[in-house]
Amino acid sequence: MTQEELFKKLIAHSKEYGFIFQSSEIYDGLAAVYDYGQLGVELKNNIKKYWWDSMTKLHSNIVGIDTAIFMHPKVWEASGHVGAFNDPLIDNKDSKKRYRADVLIEEWVAKQQEKINKEVEKARKRFDEFDETMFRQTNPRVAAYQEKIDAANNEMARTLEANDLVGVKALIENLEIACPISGTRNWTDVRQFNLMFDTKIGSVTEGANTIYLRPETAQGIFVNFLNVQKSGRQKIPFGIAQIGKAFRNEIVARQFIFRMREFEQMEMQFFVAPGTELKWFEHWKQFRMNWHKSLGFGDASYQFHDHIKLAHYANAATDIEFKFPFGFKEVEGIHSRTDFDLSRHAEFSGKKITYFDTEKNESYVPYVIETSIGVDRMVLQVMSAAYKEEKLEGGDIRTVLAIPAALAPVKVAILPLVKKDGLPELAAKIIDTLKFNYNIQLDEKDSIGKRYRRQDAIGTPLCVTVDHDSINDNCVTIRHRDTMKQERVAISELPQIVENEVGFTAMLKKLL
Ligand code: GAP
Repeated sequence: MTQEELFKKLIAHSKEYGFIFQSSEIYDGLAAVYDYGQLGVELKNNIKKYWWDSMTKLHSNIVGIDTAIFMHPKVWEASGHVGAFNDPLIDNKDSKKRYRADVLIEEWVAKQQEKINKEVEKARKRFDEFDETMFRQTNPRVAAYQEKIDAANNEMARTLEANDLVGVKALIENLEIACPISGTRNWTDVRQFNLMFDTKIGSVTEGANTIYLRPETAQGIFVNFLNVQKSGRQKIPFGIAQIGKAFRNEIVARQFIFRMREFEQMEMQFFVAPGTELKWFEHWKQFRMNWHKSLGFGDASYQFHDHIKLAHYANAATDIEFKFPFGFKEVEGIHSRTDFDLSRHAEFSGKKITYFDTEKNESYVPYVIETSIGVDRMVLQVMSAAYKEEKLEGGDIRTVLAIPAALAPVKVAILPLVKKDGLPELAAKIIDTLKFNYNIQLDEKDSIGKRYRRQDAIGTPLCVTVDHDSINDNCVTIRHRDTMKQERVAISELPQIVENEVGFTAMLKKLL
């Protein structure tokens, strides 16, 4: 199965089993907006719990808050979003399709990269002892492609940095980039497009005020820095965490829930003394990478992408990238944001935002390390790493979601062998012992084999079969999703067995 096929299957599977639906589907959908179904919401809530607990419970100096989506419009002037949260867009006059100009150029670069990869693969087949590094450095055709790539990247960086939109269009024309729909190069001028959604607060006749749907949750933390620090008597270094919705009017909406217009973020701002920020940046970089790796999808599925060109307010930044079916892409950003945000809010609000350090006996504006991760990208990460089609002995294929047990939407399926002879009643008693701590599903229809397949397909780690012997020996058969091994255990032992297998504690302990 190619990665493209895998991705298509994953999207279909997500819908078929109630994980993710297109928003407003009966009206033909709303682009880049998705709804989570009955299983999707459980998975999402478990991911959020794992993140929240790893931040707030494992760190005595991190607290959580929940701030409003609507904020005073000046917040977004201070943060720089009104002036600079833009994407350069361009339209094709024939197809009437709109594109992000930088994405068109990036896609052109990716095509050149593919040509290089093809040259490498051809050469690998030709030579027995193939030195790929040497080939990449010395082959003239590869060098020519690489030269074109470097020139395009440099020109894109230069023009975007200088806000030279005429230059961006000229680059698209020089690279002879055509619209994938119409095939023509009949482009409009490039213009800047602000990604924030706006709306009006108050009735229009009373003098409406434009406000924005927040494009990140971070600003709700910055404007509450003093409230939390003072009311919680927090001492630096300390952090404030928040999970919440964010909204961006993305021009290019693609790749399922990877790039959405309404999405959810989990952000943590860690306030530190000036001069210590790069040490903390390294600390959070490692902690967050370990968090991802603790999910067990394999270390090779992750990489850092350190930013060479930094935003004007940052003095270090990196992305954690995950290997999605469409390549390595960002799931989380870790940024050393200096004192930019707090200083700007002090300037725009006219309020003093400083911290008095009793050890140093001085006041300063704290520096900030931010960790910022998309909940939806995490759902996509988990789903794409977990989806497997396994060939069984006898040739059957089983589709299984090998979701980390603690994150699985349904933790245990209880399967009474038949719907009579007291088995449903015993199944109900077992559910009563587990349901306060875990999401349990009762599955009574079809053969046990079919029920196992159904539970595999939604990632249920444990299936518990209640049979006629269970009435007398008070034992049940547990079947494990990943190994498909079965064992007979006492009903009284079930709560402990389930906790050991699907509880959050083991995963959280890996982070210490
Ligand atoms: N406060 C910093 C900030 O918002 P960002 O890199 O723009 O930084 C952080 O976003 C994370 O939010 C990304 O790593 C990604 O996981 C998620 N994210 C951003 N835009 C998104 C979108 N349109 N759809 C889904 N997730 C998105």
